[in-house]
Amino acid sequence: MSILWPPIRALPQTCLNGNIKPLSFVEDTPEEIADQSSQLLRLFADRGGFILSSGCGIPPESKPENIAAMVLAARRGKQLVPTLTVKLEAGERRISFVPGRSLRHILDDADVGVRSGCRGTGACGLCLVRVEAGQVGEPALNERIHLDDAQRARGVRLACQVRLQHDLQLAILSPAPKSAWRRLDGQEKRRVERPPVLPRGDPSWPVEKPYGAAVDLGTTHIRLSLRNLASGCWLAERWGLNPQMIAGSDVMTRLVAAAESPAQARAASQQTVEAIGEALWDIAVRGD
Ligand code: FES
Repeated sequence: MSILWPPIRALPQTCLNGNIKPLSFVEDTPEEIADQSSQLLRLFADRGGFILSSGCGIPPESKPENIAAMVLAARRGKQLVPTLTVKLEAGERRISFVPGRSLRHILDDADVGVRSGCRGTGACGLCLVRVEAGQVGEPALNERIHLDDAQRARGVRLACQVRLQHDLQLAILSPAPKSAWRRLDGQEKRRVERPPVLPRGDPSWPVEKPYGAAVDLGTTHIRLSLRNLASGCWLAERWGLNPQMIAGSDVMTRLVAAAESPAQARAASQQTVEAIGEALWDIAVRGD
């Protein structure tokens, strides 16, 4: 699932169906079916757009108690998964979520971005939302610093500082600009073991906090990872379409086109540079 997760998240309007192995309904126990069902429901809880079902069909030899176990798990899951209702210009969005996650992450995963300039540490004060109904905890220290009494009385909160447990209804006061770039799940949030040696302390080296971007230029997508080169720490990651696709669906076609036409080669290069710039800009305005 970890390999498939980024493309699945890139298709927010797609409803997925599955994926309990059909033979499990014949061979497994009701407890095992309930367990598999719960895992799937938890995995998709914050994404939504999911129908719990068999991976293909349900074999005629299936144990009826196994089918009942899946149906029961779905009913239980429906009751357990809370809903966030967000008022948007285009109407209301209802988002199921796993309790305990930060409001900012829930919104971001559902492609309802909120402004951010501090990677969700609570330092920038940009991720403003207004709670209209439902319960959330008391404002955190960073919210007391950034929000005055009148704002707090109106239910204004910082999305990155609020952890959701129950149903909630809210309005976004500072929406993030629309973006074609997606954040990734943070599987790559590890430190670089050996960051490059930089001439720190050397007066001829003007950069106090050097950042570096690693770019994976794939056939269909670009993946960009931003790191602090002094510490090796991961800062942010983006994944989006490779604009060179319009010059051909595979690399050889693009190479031939570039070899035949210098203008085509320059255009392909420029498109890539612009896409990388857009990904970096997206990190700058939306945070990690
Ligand atoms: S305060 Fe900066 S993202 Fe929330």
